[in-house]
Amino acid sequence: MKRIYSVFALLIMVCGFSQQGSIREKILIDDDWKFAFGHQYDVEKDFGHGTSYFSYLAKAGYGDGPAAADYDDRAWRSLDLPHDWAVEQLFDEKASFSHGFKAAGKGFPEKNIGWYRKTMLIPQSDIGRKIVIKFDGVFRNSKVFFNGYYLGNQESGYNGFEYDVSAYVNYGQKNTIAVRVDASMEEGWYYEGAGIYRHVYLEKTEALKVKSDGVFVYTEELEQDKAVLNISAEIENKERYTGKMKVFHTVLDPSGKEVAFLSEEIPVPEFYGVKKVSAKIKVDRPLLWDLETPNLYRLITEIKYKDHTLDQYTTTFGIRTIRFDADKGFFLNGKPVKIKGTNNHQEHAGVGTAIPDELQYFRIKKLKEMGSNAYRTSHHPPTPELLEACDKLGMLVIDEVRLMGINDFHLDQISYLIERDRNHPSVICWSVGNEEWMIEGNDKGEKITEVMQHYAQKLDLTRPVTVGISSGFKSGISSVVEIMGYNYLGNGDIDAHRKEFKHQPGMGTEEGSTFATRGVYITDDHKHYKAAYDQKPRPTFYSIEEGWKFYSDRPYLAGMFIWTGFDYRGEPTPYGWPSVSSYFGMMDTCGFPKDNVYYLKSWWSSEPVLHILPHWNWEGREGKEIDVWVYSNVDEVELFLNKKSFGKKEMETNGHLEWKVPYQKGTLEAIGYRNGKRILYEIQKTTKQPERIKMTSHKDVLTTVKDLAIISVEVIDKDGLHIPTADHPIKFSLKGGGKIIGVGNGDPTSLEKDKFIDELKLIKITDLKEQKVSKDSFKNLSDLQDNNWTEAFKTKENETSTFAYKGNFNLDEEPSSVQVVYYYKELGTDSAIFINGDQVRPSGEDVQKYNLDSSLLNRGENTIHIIAGPQVKKRPWDELNKDPGLIQSTKKQEPWKRKLFNGYAQIIIQNDGTGEDIVLEASSPGIKPGKVVLKKNDL
Ligand code: GAL
Repeated sequence: MKRIYSVFALLIMVCGFSQQGSIREKILIDDDWKFAFGHQYDVEKDFGHGTSYFSYLAKAGYGDGPAAADYDDRAWRSLDLPHDWAVEQLFDEKASFSHGFKAAGKGFPEKNIGWYRKTMLIPQSDIGRKIVIKFDGVFRNSKVFFNGYYLGNQESGYNGFEYDVSAYVNYGQKNTIAVRVDASMEEGWYYEGAGIYRHVYLEKTEALKVKSDGVFVYTEELEQDKAVLNISAEIENKERYTGKMKVFHTVLDPSGKEVAFLSEEIPVPEFYGVKKVSAKIKVDRPLLWDLETPNLYRLITEIKYKDHTLDQYTTTFGIRTIRFDADKGFFLNGKPVKIKGTNNHQEHAGVGTAIPDELQYFRIKKLKEMGSNAYRTSHHPPTPELLEACDKLGMLVIDEVRLMGINDFHLDQISYLIERDRNHPSVICWSVGNEEWMIEGNDKGEKITEVMQHYAQKLDLTRPVTVGISSGFKSGISSVVEIMGYNYLGNGDIDAHRKEFKHQPGMGTEEGSTFATRGVYITDDHKHYKAAYDQKPRPTFYSIEEGWKFYSDRPYLAGMFIWTGFDYRGEPTPYGWPSVSSYFGMMDTCGFPKDNVYYLKSWWSSEPVLHILPHWNWEGREGKEIDVWVYSNVDEVELFLNKKSFGKKEMETNGHLEWKVPYQKGTLEAIGYRNGKRILYEIQKTTKQPERIKMTSHKDVLTTVKDLAIISVEVIDKDGLHIPTADHPIKFSLKGGGKIIGVGNGDPTSLEKDKFIDELKLIKITDLKEQKVSKDSFKNLSDLQDNNWTEAFKTKENETSTFAYKGNFNLDEEPSSVQVVYYYKELGTDSAIFINGDQVRPSGEDVQKYNLDSSLLNRGENTIHIIAGPQVKKRPWDELNKDPGLIQSTKKQEPWKRKLFNGYAQIIIQNDGTGEDIVLEASSPGIKPGKVVLKKNDL
């Protein structure tokens, strides 16, 4: 039988592929998931998962609770991925400092286990193909089940993973993925979110195929008019193919034109084996990838077996060379480039770690506008879309793993990261660690780094390895690492290290660490606000300007990465509760610039810059001296208050200018001169009364289904001037084809909600009792005998007779304030349901769903009667259903709202793909409302 099946399968494999639509399909399956919280240690609240007589580890397919294929999840919340449940929670002083005090994760057993389920149809025509589920990243410790079969566990919250489900598929029928996510542990010391926060895909291929992330293409030689590419491809055979196959490589230039081609015939790999083919290919007159013109090529790797094309695998790459030089710093395509970088974690206001793709582009563009050319993914592997954005926009990347060590747990992180990311031209360096205080200055650190570094080199010889080091700048890790990563000038003597290790290139993997609150110019420790003048964070550490001057002056240092580009949740150093996000960013959590952005833009970009700080709304401080700073890259700046000059000052390279100006309302003006000529003008004006709300979207037309509009909200006066001190509460309403997915304002002390989502509760029916009834009394409660109730399901008669069941459920809220639905799970044939004595009828769309009218319900205890039976078993060994189902109560959320913080708030809208225009309105008492209309193009 087995043999016949194999022959049959092989026939389908060999003939079937040509009937498929596309040879390799990667289908995004982010939409229509079900979600519910489980429990860290109360198995009952974890839906009984793991309690069966045979566990899912004892017998294949024995996933229980929500892991079972037929688990009833109708009452669960419906949502689309990516999803971060931590950002949806309120703040709590008992919650984690490093995770921004969100009441989820560590220490919150009711909010640290999340269950996700999704059903989908896989057609009959897929028989014989390899079906794989690919997760880009789940935070964290996920267990995945498919149709009740346990597939595996991924501890890391950052590594992607995939499972082959081909053997478990119900072809032509429903299939179920269930994921249990356990976010009870933290991996970092910064906000990490919780849940399936990256994309999930279903991948369908033939069984002889290119291995996932199995292609590596890099520029081996680059001359004026030609590049030699080194290509390797790993092919795997997940069936019993034998004989020979052909492998074709086609290179397409940025316009899609074929520019190179080669083919090779080789034996197929053995069963479940992998074969690597390597080749060199020449590209004439290559269009290089660089920061200004990030040209991207594509390599199509094709596999042909017996004249049938079995796979077509696309790899996007760039033609470019990189080099770190111990004397001269970093080179891209042979040209020196000073690295002007920022460190960043993966999250944003309103959405947490569940970052829609467009937001990655928004953030990278903001950094580029500041003049930044590099990004360190501190301190974890990023989501793939971040690197795609860096490739497409021209941003260099240090790509980092999470934890140092030399066992599989650690080395697998390196191979995962490098194999996934090695084709990205943006990636210039692998970082195998950061501030590992136990080991960085000693021989353990030295040994571990040597292993990790060699391991990385084994996978990719084209990029060097670094580690961010905060102490012991001459022993331990720093004595062996390829590129010395200095974390802060304040932590050691960089010049002294350089003298001793002349052949080791170096860069500042972290620098700055300054504190500033956007729009604040007087530090108020009571309110937890830090003035945004570029101050040293502590006496031994350096301001942004001091840091940049140091790195800019030393050609041997490749450049530096500021801590950080954007503020992030957690680490609200130097404060604590109720501050919930960091103060280190050059921009706040929304991407609104603090003044340091203009310092950097002056010296990092080639654009002319002239920026005055602070704003000029200082009512009550008349006559008092105000520190006025100017950031600019002109030669000289003259400052005027109400047309009176405060003198012209010469700008020092990499510096800024300062004046003391006694406050008087009016206009503060600056004129910038280059070569004696006036080239720039800037003004800060005292504003008038708030007049109306203004909203500006980062784009007016939404082009794809999940596209975003990231909208700045501000208040202006009657002259249209932005009011920098405005703190109005703003209420939003949205009509048309989109939804609001998050709000923020960059205030590190704000405990306002990030998300306004309906509050859904799952209510259990408890104290279930039964009495046997005659078939005739069916659908009638009057015959039931009050003293005849016994505990339900204690006899075997439920299989043969009709029963009345009675149970209770509790409603915490006033029934009129919630929507209540009963999702009944059949306890027998022909059921009748009574709520507090009144019979209820199923809703039209689902015969086992009952919408319960508030007039039938009580706040507090309610009684439910179910008359049903008998329960017919399909197979003798089937278990009786003893679960009457769940009551779901939904409380509508209040409308979305946010206060402005020093003049700004942000609201993020996502397109729903219906094609209708989106209209967002905003209102606040006492001022005129604002409105923004987002057009859709033909989707
Ligand atoms: C560094 C560390 C960063 C962050 C920063 C805060 O030492 O590498 O992750 O914690 O300090 O100042």
